[in-house]
Amino acid sequence: MTDRAALTPSPIRPEVAGEFLRGRRSVDQFTAEVPDEALVRDAVEAARWAPNHHLTQPWRFYLVGPQTRSEIIELNARLVAERKNAEVADAKRQRWQGMPGWLAVTCAQSDDPITAREDFAACACAIQNLTLYLHSAGVASKWISGEVTRHADLPRILAYDATVEYCIGIVWYGYPKRRPRSQRAPIDGIMLSRP
Ligand SMILES: Cc1cc2nc3c(=O)[nH]c(=O)nc-3n(C[C@H](O)[C@H](O)[C@H](O)COP(=O)(O)O)c2cc1C
Repeated sequence: MTDRAALTPSPIRPEVAGEFLRGRRSVDQFTAEVPDEALVRDAVEAARWAPNHHLTQPWRFYLVGPQTRSEIIELNARLVAERKNAEVADAKRQRWQGMPGWLAVTCAQSDDPITAREDFAACACAIQNLTLYLHSAGVASKWISGEVTRHADLPRILAYDATVEYCIGIVWYGYPKRRPRSQRAPIDGIMLSRP
């Protein structure tokens, strides 16, 4: 008889894995404590083992320090002020200033639409690896993809070449103040059998 566990050894039992995966939440309320950079580096190391067609390794992770962060926050406040008003913009500014950890994630540009789609998918898998790794250390996170992540000023602020890569999001991370609820549609509606 085949020993399946020996063929695909895993230190994690399925029921533990399921509970762990279901336990990750998107969090945007954190304590002031900033997680260690070494932990973030380990999370990025794990992120790059995401599946990736043709091994293009299209991801870059920018650890965003205080100066760059301020520029992003100001750009975002400006966009919110234009769209809404100064009061809402200031509230956003203050909220964003409270986010302890920031990573900006970019994906390689590609002229080939199939490669572009697959590279984006690989980057999304990498972000999920990253957030799950952080989750295992008690660090929560949120991937945001608002207007500021697509703004033409962002490549200058983050100092990357917009002809080579584009930002797919910012990941805030830190120790959670609370664990929000989340819901999913029942599995019967999404897993469909065909003969
Ligand atoms: C590609 C992507 C973009 C997202 N962008 C935002 C965003 O801009 N703002 C936000 O509040 N949440 C954003 N989220 C987080 C989702 O809102 C969150 O995953 C969803 O509410 C489910 O919550 P959960 O992750 O705790 O299950 C994004 C998630 C993904 C995967």
